[in-house]
Amino acid sequence: MSTSKLLAEKGQQLLGWVDERFPLTSTYKAHMAEYYAPKNFNFWYFFGSLALLVLVMQIVTGIFLVMHYKPDASLNAAGVPVAFASVEYIMRDVPGGWIIRYMHSTGASAFFIVVYLHMFRGLIYGSYRKPRELIWLFGVGIFLCLMAEAFFGYLLPWGQMSFWGAQVIVNLFAAIPLIGPDLSVFIRGDFVVSDATLNRFFAFHVIAIPLVLLGLVAAHLIALHEVGSNNPDGVEIKKHKDANGIPLDGIPFHPYYSVKDIFGAVVFLIVFSIIVFFAPEGGGYFLEFNNFFPADPLKTPPHIAPVWYFTPFYSILRATTSDFMWALGALVALTGGLTVLTAKCRHVKLAAAAVTVVALLAFVLIEAKVWGVVLMGGSVLIFGLLPWLDQSPVKSIRYRGGLYKSILAVWVVCFIVLGYLGVQPPSPIGNLVSQICSWLYLAFFAFMPWYTRLDKTKPEPERVS
Ligand code: HEM
Repeated sequence: MSTSKLLAEKGQQLLGWVDERFPLTSTYKAHMAEYYAPKNFNFWYFFGSLALLVLVMQIVTGIFLVMHYKPDASLNAAGVPVAFASVEYIMRDVPGGWIIRYMHSTGASAFFIVVYLHMFRGLIYGSYRKPRELIWLFGVGIFLCLMAEAFFGYLLPWGQMSFWGAQVIVNLFAAIPLIGPDLSVFIRGDFVVSDATLNRFFAFHVIAIPLVLLGLVAAHLIALHEVGSNNPDGVEIKKHKDANGIPLDGIPFHPYYSVKDIFGAVVFLIVFSIIVFFAPEGGGYFLEFNNFFPADPLKTPPHIAPVWYFTPFYSILRATTSDFMWALGALVALTGGLTVLTAKCRHVKLAAAAVTVVALLAFVLIEAKVWGVVLMGGSVLIFGLLPWLDQSPVKSIRYRGGLYKSILAVWVVCFIVLGYLGVQPPSPIGNLVSQICSWLYLAFFAFMPWYTRLDKTKPEPERVS
C-alpha cells in the first residue's frame, strides 16, 4: 500500500475514533458542507463573516496587549500615569507592540463599520422579519455589548479623552431622578473617575463583556442556522425542496460561501492594513489627538466628544433640550392618536391612550436632561422592536414602494448628519439641525406600522430570480 493510501486510511480511522466520541463530522456537515444557503447572496452578505473575523482579531490582539498593559492610574517616577506609560511602552519598546495596538484600536472602528453595514443589510432586506426575530434580537444584544466594550476599552489608555469622555458619560447617569447620584458613584467606584474606575472598566473590558459577547454571537449563529438565511429577494428557500429535501434555491455553504467569504476577508484585510500602516489615527477619528496627552483631572479639554461610532446617539442626547420636548410630545401624541384611531382591539386603544397621557405628563414633570439619556438609550434599543413595527407584506427593499424607500433614505441621511454633528462643538444651528434629525430618526420607527402598510409594494417572487 502506498504511503498516501496508508495515511488516508489512518486519517479515516482517527476521524472515526473522534466521531464515536464527539459529533465532529455531523457538525461539519450540518453547518458547512450540508448547510444550504440561498444562492443569490450579494456583497451585503460579507459583513457577518467579517464581523466574526474582526471579533477574533480583537480578542487575539487584546490578549497580547494585556500581557504588557497595566490598569494603574498612579503616577510613575516621571510623573506620568502608569496606565498611559504602559501603552507608550507597548508602542515604543515591546517588539511588534505598535502593530498589535494599532490593529486593536483600528479594529474597534472597523468592528463598528462592519456591524453598521451588517445591520443596514438587515434593514434593507427585512432580515429581522419572521422567522428571524431572535437572530435580530441577539444582534441588538451584541450591538449593546459592543458599545459597552468600546466605552470601557476607551478609558484604558488613560489619556485626556479617555478620562473626560468617561467623566461625561458616567455623569449622565447622575441625571436619573432619585437614584442617579448614588448610581454614578457606584459605577465609578469613587466620586470622580479614578484608579477604582480604571480597574473595574478593565475587568469589564477584558473578561465580563467579551464573555457575554461570545455567548450572544454563538446564540446569533445557532438561531441563524435553525431558520436559515434570508436573501436579497426575501424568498424562504426552505419552501421549495427537491426529493432529497435539499432546497432548490440553496447551495452548500462549503465550498461556495466559504470561498466567497475568504475573498471578502482578503479585500477587507487589504483595506484594513492600509489604514493600520498609513493612517492608524484615522484623521483623529479612530484615535483622537487629545488622547495622546495623559489624563489630567485638573485640565478639561475644550471640546469633549465621544468616538465617531457613538456620535449619532450622542447627538440625540445633546439635541434633547426643553424646547425639543415639545416636538417629542407631538411625536408621542401623534403615534398614540394614530394607534387609538387604527387599532382593532379595544384594549390596545385604551393602553395606547393611557401610555400617551402618562408619557406627556412625564415630559412636563421630569426635566429634559433625563429624557436626553432616555432617548439616547432608547434610540439604540428601538432597533429591537423592528420585527413588530414593520407591517409590510414584503421583506426586501427590491419589492417595496417609493414611500418606504424615500423614508429609509431620509433616515440614513439623518443618521449620518447626527453622527457628523456629534463630533462638532455645539452651535445654535448645529443644535437645530440635530433636533430635526433626531425627530426624523425617531419618527422612522414611530410611524413604521402605518407607512409600511400604506407603501405600494410589488409581489415577492416564489423562487430566487
Ligand atoms: C459581533 C457581531 C456580529 C457577528 C459576528 C455576526 C455574525 C453574523 C453572521 C456570520 C451571519 C451570517 C452571514 C450574514 O448573513 O452576513 C449573520 C447574520 C445576521 N445577523 Fe449578525 N453578527 C453580528 C452582529 C449583528 C447585529 C448587531 C445585528 C443586528 C442588530 C445582526 C443581525 C443579523 C441578522 C438579521 C442576520 C441574518 C441575515 C439574513 O439572513 O439576511 N448581527 N450575523
